[in-house]
Amino acid sequence: MSDQTDSPVLQPVTIGDLRLQNRIVMAPLTRSRSNDEGVPPDFAADYYAQRADAGLIISEATNISSQARGYAMTPGIWSDAQVAAWTPIVEAVHRRGGAIFLQLWHTGRISHPDLHDGALPVAPSAIKAEGQAFTNDGMKDFVTPRALETDEIPAIVEDYRRAAEQAKAAGFDGVEVHAANNYLLEQFIRDSTNQRSDVYGGSIENRLRFPLDVVRAVVDVWGANRVGIRISPATTEPGKTPLDSQVGRTFDTFVDALSEIGLLYIHDIEGVTQQTRDVPDGVDFQALRKRFSGAYIANNQYTLELAEKTLAEGNADLFSFGRPFLANPDLVDRLRTGAPLAEAPKQYWYGGGAVGYSDWPGMNGKIELS
Ligand SMILES: Cc1cc2nc3c(=O)[nH]c(=O)nc-3n(C[C@H](O)[C@H](O)[C@H](O)COP(=O)(O)O)c2cc1C
Repeated sequence: MSDQTDSPVLQPVTIGDLRLQNRIVMAPLTRSRSNDEGVPPDFAADYYAQRADAGLIISEATNISSQARGYAMTPGIWSDAQVAAWTPIVEAVHRRGGAIFLQLWHTGRISHPDLHDGALPVAPSAIKAEGQAFTNDGMKDFVTPRALETDEIPAIVEDYRRAAEQAKAAGFDGVEVHAANNYLLEQFIRDSTNQRSDVYGGSIENRLRFPLDVVRAVVDVWGANRVGIRISPATTEPGKTPLDSQVGRTFDTFVDALSEIGLLYIHDIEGVTQQTRDVPDGVDFQALRKRFSGAYIANNQYTLELAEKTLAEGNADLFSFGRPFLANPDLVDRLRTGAPLAEAPKQYWYGGGAVGYSDWPGMNGKIELS
């Protein structure tokens, strides 16, 4: 084991008005342990609090409305019962000195009628994704979604606004708008999934209109210094999604607008989440970072070593780790001491109870939560 106590990645840092314990972020991780009403379980408080040594925790993706749902057993933030369940989770993280943002989610076409009482999922255009949805009855093929009517879109912006208010009521420190991984907002951004002819489709400005309206509504609630956004310009998942035909220009324009709004951070999935860090033609993460005035959180297959190198080169401010947090609640301590990392078998990733979720020990045994 090697001592990494002096690693710059593990020192405190301030972004906006948030003082963070270190530059490690817990990436959002869907764990599918909520009930059919989208209420997270009480043992989620242990799970998140055990991981509160991260500089910042981003919660699992959380549905802004019933319409937003695309996966069984995922949590929501639209009902008061959901807020009541999130509140002790946030408090438990705060008791251990941590900070936690809620990730706001609408899945769009990455969904299934089983999650909507038989109704079609909604999307910018009626274009089916390749792949399968996670329903209560297992995996089922995606269907062709229903294209949203123009006048339905402002109502979804209001759903985001309300979800942001609900997140505030639950005590979160801020929110992250999920505009990555080809869920609804990214479906609007890309011309491969947005073939609308109204003010929400066609030109880059039109395709960015809805995502930027959402960001502004959320900023109205929180202030820009407590709002981040997740993007994945290079992803082809879920379901072999083609990139935007002018991906560089599209994301340059998007990031310029986000910078002008003054968002706290962009959280960039560099490559295809979990799969590759290869950069396709037309995508330049460093160029995006340079255009943006706030902090840059880098994600995808980071190790402490890669984070240190990237920080030294000035190419990121914070580093989010996803899979390593599954079985290593004390990941930051393990990185500090060079201790080996445990691996969570895939059977525990999605669904189930506390086993394989909130029962992973730290390297020195059970983690004390108060
Ligand atoms: C079990 C699991 C659940 C995930 N859930 C989400 C999610 O809810 N929201 C999101 O934006 N990304 C999600 N991701 C992607 C991760 O945040 C992250 O981008 C990915 O794991 C790559 O980072 P890593 O190499 O450090 O694991 C998930 C990944 C895994 C493995």
